Amino acid sequence: MTHSVGIHIKGSASIAGKPLFDALDMTLKAGQWSCLLGPSGIGKTTILYLLADLADHVDFDGEISLDDGKPLLERVSYMAQTDLLMPWLSALDNTLIGQRLRKEPTDHQKAQNLLTQLGLQDHINSYPSAMSGGQRQRVALARTLMEEREIVLLDEPFSALDAGTRADMQALSARWLKGKTVLHVTHDPAEAARLGQQIFLLQEDGLQQIKIPETPVVRAVDDPETLTCQGHLLRLLCGSSA
Ligand SMILES: Nc1ncnc2c1ncn2[C@@H]1O[C@H](COP(=O)(O)OP(=O)(O)OP(=O)(O)O)[C@@H](O)[C@H]1O
Ligand SMILES: [Mg+2]
Repeated sequence: MTHSVGIHIKGSASIAGKPLFDALDMTLKAGQWSCLLGPSGIGKTTILYLLADLADHVDFDGEISLDDGKPLLERVSYMAQTDLLMPWLSALDNTLIGQRLRKEPTDHQKAQNLLTQLGLQDHINSYPSAMSGGQRQRVALARTLMEEREIVLLDEPFSALDAGTRADMQALSARWLKGKTVLHVTHDPAEAARLGQQIFLLQEDGLQQIKIPETPVVRAVDDPETLTCQGHLLRLLCGSSA
């Protein structure tokens, strides 16, 4: 049984004197998949940076705490908004890079299995320059799923995928990450409605939590409750034009 931990992030942030969000108060429940939506530039990636301890450029006045009172250090895996693949490494070696950098034994079988499940069986030895954007994004996803961390941060992990592949990758990621505390940034209301056990919307007027469908995740794409939630989210994102 995977150990899960809840996270609370509270406070305000600014970058180079420009305020981003104020009085944010977000609780990610232990072992649950939380989705975060909001307009471009509102600060979603910045929240992931804060949780991943990559936010030296951010003035953050607040607190991040974990249910168990222990530090975040080495408990987080993070998939960035850009794939950040090493161009000189194959898909397999990019997937294994975490273990390599930590000088741990490399688990080739797990990496190959993962790449195969992600539909990349013909690209295991390919270099990033020979892969499409969607293939590269799946290698970055494989690299994240390789890590056995309690907290997983995903920044638009399926944004470059076609609709069918995206639905498959959503289901696969939910299976691999079951029981972990996930924060998933997305621009896609359908994705949030399908996967979210909590859904947050960050806008100019602050953070709000959206009612989720009662059906368990991963929800069917055409489930009526999923579609209602999707429509509700889209309406909120569109503002007055919807
Ligand atoms: N290093 C930086 N220096 C200055 N401003 C920055 C820096 N990084 C981000 N910003 C600014 O902070 C704001 C929030 O950026 P962030 O990347 O968190 O937005 P986002 O909600 O993830 O947007 P998107 O949906 O487009 O990815 C933006 O206005 C951006 O221009
Ligand atoms: Mg972003």
